[in-house]
Amino acid sequence: MKKSLTYYVKTFGCQMNVADSERIAASYKNRGFIKAKTLTSANHIVIVTCMIRGSAEDRVYGLVQNLVKKKAKSRKIIVTGCMTGMAVRDKSGKFIKRLKDRMPEVDEFLPIEEVGFDTMPLRSNKKIAWVPISNGCNNYCTYCVVPYTRGREISRSFEEIINECKEVIKSGFKEITLLGQNVNSYGSDLVKNSKRGYKLPNGKIVKPIFVKHLGKKRIPTLFPYLLEEISNLKGIKRVNFISSNPWDFSDELIDVITHNKVISRTIHLPVQSGDDEILKKMNRWHTRDDYLKLVANLKFKIKNLKLSTDIIVGFPGETKKQFQNTVDLCKKAKFDKAYISMYSDRPMTLAHKSFIDDVSYQEKKRRWNILDDLINKKAVKTQLRHLGGGPEGLPRGGGLKE
Ligand code: 5AD
Ligand code: SF4
Repeated sequence: MKKSLTYYVKTFGCQMNVADSERIAASYKNRGFIKAKTLTSANHIVIVTCMIRGSAEDRVYGLVQNLVKKKAKSRKIIVTGCMTGMAVRDKSGKFIKRLKDRMPEVDEFLPIEEVGFDTMPLRSNKKIAWVPISNGCNNYCTYCVVPYTRGREISRSFEEIINECKEVIKSGFKEITLLGQNVNSYGSDLVKNSKRGYKLPNGKIVKPIFVKHLGKKRIPTLFPYLLEEISNLKGIKRVNFISSNPWDFSDELIDVITHNKVISRTIHLPVQSGDDEILKKMNRWHTRDDYLKLVANLKFKIKNLKLSTDIIVGFPGETKKQFQNTVDLCKKAKFDKAYISMYSDRPMTLAHKSFIDDVSYQEKKRRWNILDDLINKKAVKTQLRHLGGGPEGLPRGGGLKE
């Protein structure tokens, strides 16, 4: 009998990459492959990459180099995920050249879009089912590569998501985590693209009108409706969602959470900085006061709320005084956990083009330690359930890109 070919998926990065990996595994299984026991013994090695920071990218180069040392016959190395996403979107062709120069051994660069949502994923976590609701991001925070690696935000259809959740529950899962770079803006593209408004399964029409939120005009999102519908599905015990952003975290959304006990009380709400000038340079378009008001509202309305966040230290030009404003915000917000990153200059981003990465590594590390001591040392005691927030959620023990 002919022996089946084997595959192994090595995942770097966020929970979104984990969800993508589960679909990749399913597509291999459907083609008759079986999972290899180890990475090096597999016939097809698929590397799902992350490039949120330089260190994430370096890990991929390091892994490929190690694989080359242990060269095996009849082996294919396939690179997908964010690095390939960037290569596809960089029309100058420089990035794909860089990848090919640095990893000549790679046999194929596979755009993740080619994997698609038509196959049910081979779920790696037996307790929590990861369900992507949107992909990409339109926010263009100046430091972030995500709009270039995953492209603009595209939401999955409401029905498709509900159907996947029903399947998941039918197969025995009691807990679902909804994934997106910006879950609370889910569906604003669907609403925007509908001429007369988006019709929800219950017949309600959400109109493409502008509403004002945190100083910006926004198209209403479908997230409150989606979250409500999922939390009402029979058999579901817990619904989590990552990541949210301060914008689009509307009163309507807070009300849905308040009224549905199955929705997690652990909310990941990236702040990035506590200084208004830095927030502006980051293109975050919410102020520290906007953020603190939102936190106060959340804490007032949601009993037993556990709050986690993402913070970047050492953003270009960040002074000691500006960093102190972040420390001060953290003391006021009283986070239960923070995923703290040292600023890393990323290709294509506006920060890369406009600012100099001028805070030294030592100073970034010093600021990182101060925040870690302030927030996370205490969190060890409170044992916040890990939602998978933060960028390299996995490599950190192997932390979602917002
Ligand atoms: N440098 C450091 N941290 C970054 N993040 C995103 N881009 C960068 C960067 N260039 C962090 C942010 C974001 C999280 C997913 O990763 O805190 O919320
Ligand atoms: Fe989008 Fe989050 Fe990146 Fe900002 S930090 S561009 S919201 S993915």
